[in-house]
This record gives sequence, C-alpha cells and structure tokens, in this order.
Amino acid sequence: MNRIPLAIVGCGGMGHRHLFGLAELHRAGLSPFELVGACDPVTDNANSLADEAATLLGTRPAVVANYDELSKLNVAAVDITTTPRFHHNLTVDAVGRGWHVMVEKPAGLTARACNLMRKAANESGLVVSVAENYRRDPINRLAKALLDAGEIGIPRFMLHQSAGGGGNRMLISVWRHQKDQSGVLLDVGVHFADIMEYFMGEITSVYAQTRLHEPIRHNPAGEGKEPTSNPAGVYGRWQRTMPAYFEATAEDASYATILFASGAVGQYLEDHANHGQPIWARQIHGAKGSLDLPNDRTGRPIRMTSGGETIDDDRLLDRVPDFRLDEATAALFGGDRLWRYDFPFNETDRKLIAVEYADFGGAIAGKHPAEVDIEQGSRSVAVSYAMLESGATGQIVHVQDVLDERIDVYQRPINESMGI
Ligand SMILES: NC(=O)c1ccc[n+]([C@@H]2O[C@H](COP(=O)([O-])OP(=O)(O)OC[C@H]3O[C@@H](n4cnc5c(N)ncnc54)[C@H](O)[C@@H]3O)[C@@H](O)[C@H]2O)c1
Repeated sequence: MNRIPLAIVGCGGMGHRHLFGLAELHRAGLSPFELVGACDPVTDNANSLADEAATLLGTRPAVVANYDELSKLNVAAVDITTTPRFHHNLTVDAVGRGWHVMVEKPAGLTARACNLMRKAANESGLVVSVAENYRRDPINRLAKALLDAGEIGIPRFMLHQSAGGGGNRMLISVWRHQKDQSGVLLDVGVHFADIMEYFMGEITSVYAQTRLHEPIRHNPAGEGKEPTSNPAGVYGRWQRTMPAYFEATAEDASYATILFASGAVGQYLEDHANHGQPIWARQIHGAKGSLDLPNDRTGRPIRMTSGGETIDDDRLLDRVPDFRLDEATAALFGGDRLWRYDFPFNETDRKLIAVEYADFGGAIAGKHPAEVDIEQGSRSVAVSYAMLESGATGQIVHVQDVLDERIDVYQRPINESMGI
C-alpha cells in the first residue's frame, strides 16, 4: 500500500499526543500514513516530536519551520495541532497547496475564521477533517445507538453540567485563558457543543450568562511545584517556563439554556472556576426514559432508565443488537460491541486520536466522508460563541446568526486582532 505522506504541524502538547495516536494506529497495523515532517517554528518542539517519532515509528521525520520548507517533502496531508489562532491561515494555505487537512478543535478561532476555512475547503474538494475526539469514545457510540434505536423515546431534555474543582488554577496553558487566543469556554466548549449536536441534532439558539470569575490565574509549575493540569503528562516542561500568576481575559463560566431544532431543550453549565465540589452530569431524558452518561474518556458505563427498569451493564447491548463499532475503534479498544472499557487515561487518549487518524485516512482514500467535517466543526465554534455573544449582549442568540456573522459583538475585537 502506498502510504500517505503526512506532517504534524504544531509540535506542542497536542502535537505530541497526536504522534502517540498515530503510533497506536501504526501498532494496530491500520495506519495509512507515513510521518515525513514535524513542522514548528520552535525548533526544540519539532525536534522533540521527531525524536519521539523515531522511537515510536522507527523513522525520524524531517524537522521544518514552515510550509515552504514542508512543501519540499512532498507531503499530501497535514495534521494541524497549533494553537487555534493559526488554524485558519494554515488550513487555507494547506488546501491551496493541494494538501488534505486534519485540524484540531476549535476548527477556527472565530466564526469568521471558520468561514474562511469552509470556503477554502469547499472550493478545493480536499478533505478538511476536524479532530474532535469525544464523540468517538465507544461509550458515546453506544449512547448514540441507544438513542437512535428509540430506547428512551423522543428526547425532550438534555442536561449538561461540568464544573471542575480547579478554582483559579491555570487550565493547561496561559493561552487558554486569553480571549484573543481561545478562552476556555471555546477550548472546552466546542467539545460539549459537538457532543450535544451528535446526540440531539442541531442547536438553534441559546441564552447564556457568562462570567470571568478568576481574572488572575495561578500556574503552580511556574513556581517550581508539580504541574496540576497536565493531560497525558506532556505539558509540564512548557508549564515550568510559564509565569506563576497571570491575568486572564477570557470568560471562565457559562450558564445557559439551549434550544434544539427538534424542540428539545438543554440546560448547560460549564464552569472552569469552581472552588467547591466538582460537578459532572450529562443526561438525556426522553418520552420513554433517560440516559445518564459518564464523563468522556473514562470508559464508565451508561445508566439507562426505561420501562421502569434501570440497567448499567452488558444488558445495554441487548437493546441494540445491530450496534457495531467501526473497524479501527473495535481493533484499538478490543471489541466491536463494548458497554465499558478500562484503560489508563493516556492510553484512551491515544486510542481516540488513532481513531481520528483512521477516519482521516479513510476520507482521503474516498471510503467515506470525514465524520467531523469543517461544517460540523464550524457549528461547534458557532455554538460556543453563541453563548459568549449572548453573555455580551443579554439577548437570545441564534447559532445561524453567529455562523453568518450577523452577530459578532464579542468576536469583533478578536477578528480585528487577526486582521480578518
Ligand atoms: N482534542 C483534545 O482533547 C485537545 C486537547 C488539547 C489541545 N487540543 C487542541 O490542540 C491545539 C494545540 O493545543 P496544545 O495544547 O498542543 O498547544 P501548545 O501550546 O502546547 O502547542 C502549540 C504548538 O503550536 C506551535 N505553533 C504555533 N504556531 C505555529 C505555526 N504557524 N506553525 C507550526 N507550529 C506552530 C507552537 O510553537 C507549539 O509548539 C489547540 O487547538 C487545542 O485546542 C485538543
């Protein structure tokens, strides 16, 4: 098989995690890619990724600083894992050069940035896939199958509540607290927007109160202590070089009421400034019963209450006899019909990223469209900004108005800062 020459563009935390995902797919014998480039203007980061790749994949990709250098490597696809502010320019530039793109979430930094990406993608006919991992969790696949099978009847209400217990602590990096670089309500909010639309269909409007509760954030690693927000254990080295205290400019909590096109209603809490007991709840209530869903990437079981019975074990699978995971997910997670799994977080993380790569490769080969395309990725950005625009204006905000750039009170300064 001719492998697809690929480069990872952006060799920070997620760039390294993507490499671990690519290696996972490679080990399973399912990778259609050959990693030929590690691209980052910060040479140390690109070299670090290339060194790890040499160990994990057996060959060391070339280290380059930009696309002009990358184009000499004859790449056919790029995986963009830079900070969000650069996603749109790098995507538009890549498809202009004829390269397929997988881009990390949020697809673009604003709705306008996403629209530039949509236009370029549609005109090119190339694959532009958004690396959205949460929906690919096998437990979320089972939940979707139960919903589609009508096991809880027509959904009427979705409850999504997440409040971490981190108080004023930095979430992974300084940029995640800066409005003009991707605040936390966008960074994490797009995952939840995607999962809400995956389960419930399109969101039409939101009313939200948003807050910036913690204007000064604390990074313990900046004063020589252990990093406290370090998914997959890759961020510590960078966190040690970040300031111990810094100003946050992006809102850190959203309290919203959501309307779905189906007529169903959602209640939404996303709080990254909670000092008290952490909160997690994701429930869907329908005309016949309810689903109580575990946190993403935990592998914990769904609890379904329907017909006077509550089940949270392998009997869930009896309700959906046709449910099958796709080939890559089944191979990586160890079965095509799962109701729970039990892996350390790092392993689950890289398996889900491997599934993203498998989807991207399949789309390039023309086997199927990318599951989360730039249209869906842009919708998630628009839903997150609908909350922030609602918070800024005190109005109910329609997602389509955000997508069509008719409402941009909150986003305008961000667009201006990017010159778009
Ligand atoms: N899906 C998830 O679970 C998940 C988790 C973490 C991060 N992310 C996403 O991944 C992306 C990266 O986040 P991160 O935590 O790795 O950030 P990071 O700050 O750790 O790394 C960003 C890297 O991009 C590089 N970079 C910046 N501009 C570049 C350019 N023009 N060309 C090439 N490289 C460039 C930086 O030098 C840095 O090495 C973000 O979009 C973030 O939202 C997704």
